[in-house]
Amino acid sequence: MSQSQPIPQTDPRAGYLRRKAEIDAAVTRVLSGGQYILGSEMEAFEAEFAAWTEAEQAIAVGNGTDGLVIGLLALGVQPGDRVITVSHTAVATVSAIEMIGAVPVLVDTDACYGMDPSGLSHVLDACLREGRRVGAVIPVHLYGQAADLEPICATAARAAVPVLEDCSQAHGATLGGRQVGRYGQAAVYSFYPTKNLGGYGDGGMITTDVAALADECRACRQYGWRERFVSASAGRNSRLDEMQAAILRVKLASLSEDNARRGAIAALYDQGLATAPIERPQRRAQAGHVFHQYVIRAEGRDDLKARLAERGIGTGLHYPVPVHLQPAYAGRIALADGELPNTEASARVILSLPMYPELTDTDVERVIAAISASMS
Ligand SMILES: Cc1ncc(COP(=O)(O)O)c(C=O)c1O
Repeated sequence: MSQSQPIPQTDPRAGYLRRKAEIDAAVTRVLSGGQYILGSEMEAFEAEFAAWTEAEQAIAVGNGTDGLVIGLLALGVQPGDRVITVSHTAVATVSAIEMIGAVPVLVDTDACYGMDPSGLSHVLDACLREGRRVGAVIPVHLYGQAADLEPICATAARAAVPVLEDCSQAHGATLGGRQVGRYGQAAVYSFYPTKNLGGYGDGGMITTDVAALADECRACRQYGWRERFVSASAGRNSRLDEMQAAILRVKLASLSEDNARRGAIAALYDQGLATAPIERPQRRAQAGHVFHQYVIRAEGRDDLKARLAERGIGTGLHYPVPVHLQPAYAGRIALADGELPNTEASARVILSLPMYPELTDTDVERVIAAISASMS
């Protein structure tokens, strides 16, 4: 981008333009083929995504929120069950729990923005002491970095509670060399346009190694059908359309390369901001971060955001208000130990810098220079 052009915080259109010929050909193939729902593109994409994530099965759905809903239902979560997750996440993680009549219980986050394992342990014990059934635990791999999965999964396992990983921001992230999504009983991905793997509309995926779970998810995404027109169980409608599947197949082919570019941009930010009066993102030991977002912490964050905007640099807030303080949830959601100090402190200082694979090194240098100039 030239010196004078604005730099957006994210730019899914740039990802389209980079692969325009291939994506246009994929869309034309679907339009001319005549099959628009549950066809060969979706089947091929499911197989390719399962192979890419090293899962046995992948079930494509309409979006990530539906993936969480269907995943929770397939795991046998019942109305009234507690489902433990975090408040520092997209509101979808929590809204999915309430959509099936389950009750969210929210835990604080650690320094890497993942679920605090000791908070999980406390809240799980408290639920069990009170005789509450805990239906599932949902760790979120926020910003592209794995949550502290080993203690989280061990804590859930000792109470025989399944783990549904929310990988919506972490396609390809690893922990100890193993992909996220491989630790829990099932995992959910979103293909919202700005995600590391994003379509040009809505899309989502559930992955699992458990054949019975996969079967349940497949039936649930289309009216409970295992056989056409026979609703053996009560399902819903949440299907990834053929056009999105064909586009996502094109983009999956370069996801590793795109994630590597995100990592290179993060390294440039790390280096360029080493002496700036901000905090750079902390890395979890053994974690392969895929930098869905590069999130700094800055006192006077709102001023910095405004000054960067004056210089044509777009930034984001992920998220400005934690879920438990949103108007729809405030005062009525159970919080571990009654409060979430890290979550609330984070919301006041976080700032997401421009991050997408098509950013050039020169763009990144401009962002770094603008931060330095804004803070001096
Ligand atoms: C962590 C997280 N969970 C769930 C979702 C929901 O995904 P979707 O927007 O595809 O429904 C998102 C996407 O915004 C997300 O970032």
